[in-house]
Amino acid sequence: MARMLNVALPKGRLGETVYGLFEAAGFPCPAVMEPGRKLIFENAEAGVRYFWVKPSDVAIYVERGAADIGVAGKDILLEYEPDVYELADLGVGVCRMAVAAKRDFYDDTRRALRVATKFPHIASRHYAARGRDIDVIRLGGSIELAPILGLSDVIVDIVETGKTLKENDLAVIEEIAPVSARLIANKSGFKFKTAEIERIARQLRKKETI
Ligand code: PRP
Repeated sequence: MARMLNVALPKGRLGETVYGLFEAAGFPCPAVMEPGRKLIFENAEAGVRYFWVKPSDVAIYVERGAADIGVAGKDILLEYEPDVYELADLGVGVCRMAVAAKRDFYDDTRRALRVATKFPHIASRHYAARGRDIDVIRLGGSIELAPILGLSDVIVDIVETGKTLKENDLAVIEEIAPVSARLIANKSGFKFKTAEIERIARQLRKKETI
């Protein structure tokens, strides 16, 4: 008999889209979408147990084996580099990691570049590769404010529609990486439940839009 798969879904709007992909792939569990505060849902017949997890925590659940598989943004995978398998690009949650600055930005290379970001590791790696010294200013949100208020020279952040940058008079000056939702798997879980995980990954890959 097929073993039950524990699946960590990212809570929120992206999570609902992602659940839709799992449902369309043949792994439904309608209770997942019912309003309420419940976090765990099971469909024994389909062999899946879903749980809602804060998006930035999905990789932790999967890396430590509390979930066999999960869906995490490539931004989180690049930032935390969890020791997991990346099995598929689900083609949703598409955006990009980029450097942005005020339109009149000029890089004064005599001093460290002040970079505001929620992604200090991505920012550090990006500038280390260019041999550019930076001073990372780690923020929790509304990163776009930093260059406007003179807190930073640039930001490293996610750009989706570009609306937030535009409305705050900022512009992308460099692309770092494309981002989208990825199916990830726990490494030892993958060994024990290869058939089950491969089956779900195969079905989801068929639904890939890119
Ligand atoms: C993200 C990101 C940008 C915005 C980009 O913010 O940090 O601010 O979305 O989207 P856009 O290009 O479509 O305007 P989020 O909504 O997650 O909020 P926070 O980072 O301020 O917490």
